[in-house]
Amino acid sequence: MLTTENTVNWLTSFGEKVIENKAYLSELDSLIGDGDHGSNMARGVQAMLEKFQSTEFKEPNDVFKTTAMALLSKIGGASGPLYGSAFMEMAKQSETGDISVIISAGLDGIKKRGRAEPGEKTMIDVWVPVCEALQENQLTKQVIDEAVQATKPMKATKGRASYVGDRSIGEIDPGAMSSAYLFEALLEGDILND
Ligand SMILES: Nc1ncnc2c1ncn2[C@@H]1O[C@H](COP(=O)(O)OP(=O)(O)OP(=O)(O)O)[C@@H](O)[C@H]1O
Ligand SMILES: [Mg+2]
Repeated sequence: MLTTENTVNWLTSFGEKVIENKAYLSELDSLIGDGDHGSNMARGVQAMLEKFQSTEFKEPNDVFKTTAMALLSKIGGASGPLYGSAFMEMAKQSETGDISVIISAGLDGIKKRGRAEPGEKTMIDVWVPVCEALQENQLTKQVIDEAVQATKPMKATKGRASYVGDRSIGEIDPGAMSSAYLFEALLEGDILND
């Protein structure tokens, strides 16, 4: 069950993972994009963590909205508006308290904004299998890892990575990796357990 406290804990852990792996995310992006995904994401989650320190939240809805605004305004790049849309849509479904409904709304937000379909080597290639697993109550670290690895053979046809064409084949998509940290943090927290 989703509470204000476990939502803050989840997203704090996500933020910490992004900061820890900032160099790795940028390295992945330097192989198929412009090398800024780690610094973009770290700037966004840093702003989110600062907001968490200074805000008394009443309900999960406020936490998601604050996260959306921080990521949207600070990440820049393609991923800022995409993560911003995801968390905005998640806020709207937060009252259901159902994490599977909430993540699925987030995915719809990303799809609406970015118009990517599965298999185009973007972050949604992690969001889609995670949503499916959550619906079956079967999200595991393996599901997340496999989704990330599955982006390797894909050829990017959306975003900046599409500029490198066939050279995008063989590498992990950086946005898929940053999304994996979001779901690893979800798995490690207590939202799915209580
Ligand atoms: N249309 C899209 N739909 C979903 N995800 C996308 C889309 N376009 C890009 N992405 C994701 O965004 C990630 C890249 O984010 P990043 O922060 O590096 O922005 P960027 O591409 O460098 O943006 P810009 O070109 O504006 O600087 C990709 O790895 C991919 O997962
Ligand atoms: Mg980039």
